Amino acid sequence: ADPLRIGIAGLGTVGTSTIRLLDRRANALAASCGRAITVAAVSARSRSRDRGISIERYRWFDDPVALARDPGIDVFVELMGGDEGPAHEAVRAALDMGTPVVTANKALLARHGVDLARRAEKAGVALNFEAAVAGGVPIIKTLREALVGNNIDRVYGILNGTCNYILTRMEAEGLSFGACLAEAQRLGYAEADPTFDIGGFDTAHKLALLTSLAFGTQVDAEAIHVEGIERITTEDLAAAAELGYRIKLLGVATRSESGVEQRVHPTMVPRSTPIAQVDGVTNAVAIDADAIPELTLVGPGAGGEATASAVVGDLADIARGQVMAPFGRPSGELTPLPHAAM
Ligand code: NDP
Ligand code: HSE
Repeated sequence: ADPLRIGIAGLGTVGTSTIRLLDRRANALAASCGRAITVAAVSARSRSRDRGISIERYRWFDDPVALARDPGIDVFVELMGGDEGPAHEAVRAALDMGTPVVTANKALLARHGVDLARRAEKAGVALNFEAAVAGGVPIIKTLREALVGNNIDRVYGILNGTCNYILTRMEAEGLSFGACLAEAQRLGYAEADPTFDIGGFDTAHKLALLTSLAFGTQVDAEAIHVEGIERITTEDLAAAAELGYRIKLLGVATRSESGVEQRVHPTMVPRSTPIAQVDGVTNAVAIDADAIPELTLVGPGAGGEATASAVVGDLADIARGQVMAPFGRPSGELTPLPHAAM
C-alpha cells in the first residue's frame, strides 16, 4: 500500500519527538497499519536551528499554511501552538482542502474547535487531537469511542503537568515557585507562554474539550471559572499537609439539571485519595459514568515523548482509514447545553 505522507508544522519539543518516534517505530507501525507512515515535509520558523534531528531529508516550507495546502501530503500535523495566526490558518486550510489534521493544540481547539470540527465533518476527514489533553494519556479516544455507551455525570482531574510538577517539587523539596517553573520549562513541559499553565488557562482549555466530548456541549473555555496556582506558597502546601491534605490544580466538569458546571482552581484533596497521590508531570483524569461508576486514567501529562505517543496514535488511526466523528458527534450539528452559573 502507498505510504501515508505527513507534513509536520512545528519542530519543537513535540514535533522533534514525533519524528524520532516515527523513525524508531517505523516497522511496527507499518505492520500495524498496513502501510508506512513517512514524513514528507516540515515547517518551522528557523530552517537552520539545531534540533538534534536531521531535517534535510524532508521538503522544507517557510510558510506552514503553504505546507497545509501542499498536495504532496496526506495528513497535516500541527505542532506549533497558538490559538490564532499560522496554526489556525494552516489547520483551516488543510481541512478545507480535504486533508486530515492531527494537532496537539488545545488552545486552538478551545477557541475554534466547533468551527474546525464542522469543517472536518463537511470534508469527511479526521481532526484528531489526542495529544491536546493530558499528553500521553489516551483520554480523548476513551471518551470518543470506548465510553460512548455511558451517560457521564462528572469528568475531573489534574490536567496540567507543569502545575503538578511545580506543586509536587515545592511541597517535597521546599523549592521556590520560580525555580520549579524554570525547571518545567527546561524539561519541555510548559507552554511557550507559561502563564497559560500557571494561570489555569491550559487546564481550562483541556477541560472545555473534555466537557464537549463527555456531555455533547459546545466547546466553551470562556465560560469556565479559572484560578491558577501563582499565589500558592510552600507555607500553604505545608499547612495543607499538616491537616492531611495536598493542594492540586483540578479541572472539574459536572452535569447538573441546568447544564454543565465547569471550574478550574487549586483544591485541597485528602491525602488518602488516589488523585492526591499523583505526583510530578503525571496527569489523572477521572470519569463518573452510569455503567462505569469510577474510571481513572493516570499517566505522563506533558513532555516530548509522551505527547508524541498520542500524535503517532492519531496518525496510525488515519493510516488505517479510520475517521472518528469530531467531538464525538456522529454527524450534523454539535448540540450546545447552557453552562450553569457558578
Ligand atoms: P515548542 O515551542 O517547543 O515548538 C514550537 C514549534 O513551532 C517550533 O519548532 C517553532 O519553530 C514552530 N513555530 C512556532 N511558530 C511558528 C510559525 N509562525 N511558523 C512556523 N513555525 C512556527 O512547542 P511544543 O512542541 O512544546 O508544543 C507544540 C504544541 O503542542 C503546542 O500547541 C502545545 O500546547 C502542544 N503540547 C505540548 C506539550 C508539551 O509537553 N510540550 C504537550 C501537549 C501538547 P522554531 O523552532 O523555528 O522556533
Ligand atoms: N503545558 C502543558 C502541561 C503541556 O504542562 O500540561 C501538555 O498539554
